[in-house]
Amino acid sequence: MKRVVVLESIHPDGVTALQRHYDVTVCLGASRARILDAVTAASAIVVRSVTRVDRELLDRARRLQVIGRAGIGTDNIDMAYAAERGIEVITVPGGNAVSVAEFTVMQILALCRNAYAIAEAVKANDFRRELYQGVELSAQTVGIVGVGQIGQLVAQRLRPFGCRLIGFDINPALRDRFAELSVQWMDCLDDLLQRSDVITVHVPKTAQTTGMIGARELALMKRGVRLINTSRGGIIVEAELLKAVQRGHVAGAAIDVLVDEPPFHALSEQVNYTNPLLGHPNILITPHCAASTEEAQRVVALNLVEAMVKILAPGTRGRRRASVAVGAKR
Ligand code: MLT
Repeated sequence: MKRVVVLESIHPDGVTALQRHYDVTVCLGASRARILDAVTAASAIVVRSVTRVDRELLDRARRLQVIGRAGIGTDNIDMAYAAERGIEVITVPGGNAVSVAEFTVMQILALCRNAYAIAEAVKANDFRRELYQGVELSAQTVGIVGVGQIGQLVAQRLRPFGCRLIGFDINPALRDRFAELSVQWMDCLDDLLQRSDVITVHVPKTAQTTGMIGARELALMKRGVRLINTSRGGIIVEAELLKAVQRGHVAGAAIDVLVDEPPFHALSEQVNYTNPLLGHPNILITPHCAASTEEAQRVVALNLVEAMVKILAPGTRGRRRASVAVGAKR
């Protein structure tokens, strides 16, 4: 029986589906040494965004045929080396897009209305409502950086609020789609940064997008801007964001993704994770959970397993492609 190692949490129905076909080891929150050990006999591994599937890991996994990425991003995977080794990488791009879009809208509203600060104050018996006057989303210009699948779903969900939507994407073919969504096309990122009251980032992590919002870009933004990042850590430079929030230029930021992500599987007493962003009251850090809904995780896991089973079936070797994006069936 082929061995599959699940290195990050996926929906339990996905694990059950895998167990019907394979010898499955679930190895969550393991040390690097334990991960490298676990993958040696694996025909397939399942990861999300944390496990570094690099040359070292791939060299240890000599029998590996498939990497299942439960989600969309592949920035934690050495795609070129996987292709060179003939290992297929399966992603499920649409599976969690609605959940990420809904989470983004929630964070936009939370920042506009100081929701988290109010919740904390009330727990501490502080009911001075005059301290927490917010702004109406309807009066804001929301800038969407990256208007692909998730950016478009965010735009659709924001439209009923009556806010002005502007967007920037490097793909000029999306221009018509912008018009359909009533999102005003910005010719360059700088234009979007200068005009937005709220900016939400929805780009993949690549060499071009890493650090795309740094000191210069933050300085271009309006004073009092609110920022949301549910895409990938490092697209907004963390140290520069902190400085901009400290001097009040950025009023608030909701950050779901960090360059060094905290240990998602450890109990709080075992965690000694530090990040300067965690200490600022106007920066809301969440543990990369925008996609964490029952619906999204189930769809992603089951579609991933279905594709994995097809690829690992006897007789498919030699017909493999480097990367397979599975259209999510709900
Ligand atoms: C993704 O790439 O799809 C997301 O980051 C979701 C995740 O890994 O939890």
